[in-house]
Amino acid sequence: MTNPATDSGAPIAQPAPKKEDGTVEESSHEQVVTPWEVQGAQVDGKLVAIDYNKLIEQFGTRRIDEPLLERLERLTGRKPHPFLRRGLFFSHRDLTQLLDRYEKGKPFYLYTGRGPSSGSMHVGHMVPFIFCKWLQDVFQCPLVIQLTDDEKFLFKQELKMADALKYSLENAKDIMAFGFDPEKTLIFSNLNYMNAGFYQNVVKIAKCITTSVSKATFGFNDSDNVGKVHFVSVQAAPSFSNSFPQIFGPKGDIPCLIPCAIDQDPYFRLTRDVANRLKYPKPALIHAMFFPALQGPGSKMSASNPNSAIYLTDTPAQIKNKINKYAFSGGAATLEEQRKFGGNPDVDVSFQYLRFFLEDDEELADIEAKYKSGEMLTGELKQRCIAVVSALVKDMQDRRKTLTQEIVDKFFNAGPRTPFAPAAPVQA
Ligand code: TYM
Ligand code: TRP
Repeated sequence: MTNPATDSGAPIAQPAPKKEDGTVEESSHEQVVTPWEVQGAQVDGKLVAIDYNKLIEQFGTRRIDEPLLERLERLTGRKPHPFLRRGLFFSHRDLTQLLDRYEKGKPFYLYTGRGPSSGSMHVGHMVPFIFCKWLQDVFQCPLVIQLTDDEKFLFKQELKMADALKYSLENAKDIMAFGFDPEKTLIFSNLNYMNAGFYQNVVKIAKCITTSVSKATFGFNDSDNVGKVHFVSVQAAPSFSNSFPQIFGPKGDIPCLIPCAIDQDPYFRLTRDVANRLKYPKPALIHAMFFPALQGPGSKMSASNPNSAIYLTDTPAQIKNKINKYAFSGGAATLEEQRKFGGNPDVDVSFQYLRFFLEDDEELADIEAKYKSGEMLTGELKQRCIAVVSALVKDMQDRRKTLTQEIVDKFFNAGPRTPFAPAAPVQA
């Protein structure tokens, strides 16, 4: 299935079959996971949960297994993060090779990003950032965070430049509230940041990617603007260390590890192919599962539908209302049936949210057992979920309030810059 020489053996991004009125076919279709659309398979009109094993196979990635977790623990002296212990970061590319290097004392950096599509991030977006914070603490490594306001400007026809910039600044502040080390973290907006090293890499990458490969990987057609076809070069560039000469110097030989949900993998399959041709190290990846939308399994929380998402700006009353009203329940239809047959935590959204955010392993196992046996009812499960999610969001809001202009500037600047120095060619 996967072409061994490259990562691009993965299938072409296929949108779910649509009816003429734009709605998705009722009957049956395969699951769809692209950077723009996540939908579980539909079997006889019923949406089922995302099959992550199938994604590993289709995308040609590796599963994060017990031996790898044990090795991580040995190397770092730290118990793996709950996201790892619970299999929520479930897949990787070349993490083993990255650890081999780390074991020899060689450096790496972290790269992640956010496409600021709205003024506030939602709790699903927290997943890669919480994990990056943990990785930065454990490995004490630099982290670069790309805000793809240019991407949102190109992909959202109605979005104005001024709004793209505004969202980007607001999202940057949300991200700063995760507690990254400002001395080791660069947050940059593509629309505001293009140093010579970075742009040289963008064009080097662009020269290696044909229009037809971009179209096939992302499902573009000839009516899409050329910026969309080219955008992958911009998202790829931070994977190479000489895009940040002010942090890593002129050499492009320091590899990075990219934590993201698996929807972003198509960008990095192309990036890894290009890395080979440019003689740069390939980026390693570590992939998360999707934090589901309130409406249910087989989805990802997305900012486009306000009733499907819990935003970092939501009040406790809004959170309570959204979870009570919309969170898909895996409970039985009636109280008697629930007591008798129990609920299904695998499809229950409140339970899934706890799986991401309830820190206490024992309590989580206890809830799972009680819910399955029918001892715990949906209402009680929702109350626990509301408490955990509200506390998380409040914590983010409180930390965001403590940001000073000085800290904000530090994150945006990360090192001296010489805006008008003549551009020197960066080295491979
Ligand atoms: P964006 O803004 O769509 O998403 C930001 C990050 O959050 C992940 N994510 C989720 N994770 C779990 N559950 C969800 N429901 C969920 N929704 C989104 C995404 O996978 C991503 O990691 N083009 C990118 C921005 C970007 C980027 C990167 C992301 C630029 N460079 C490098 C990751 C790594 C975007 O629009 O992400
Ligand atoms: N001040 C930032 C810098 O020095 C640039 C910037 C302005 C920015 N507006 C932004 C960065 C919004 C991110 C988001 O780099």
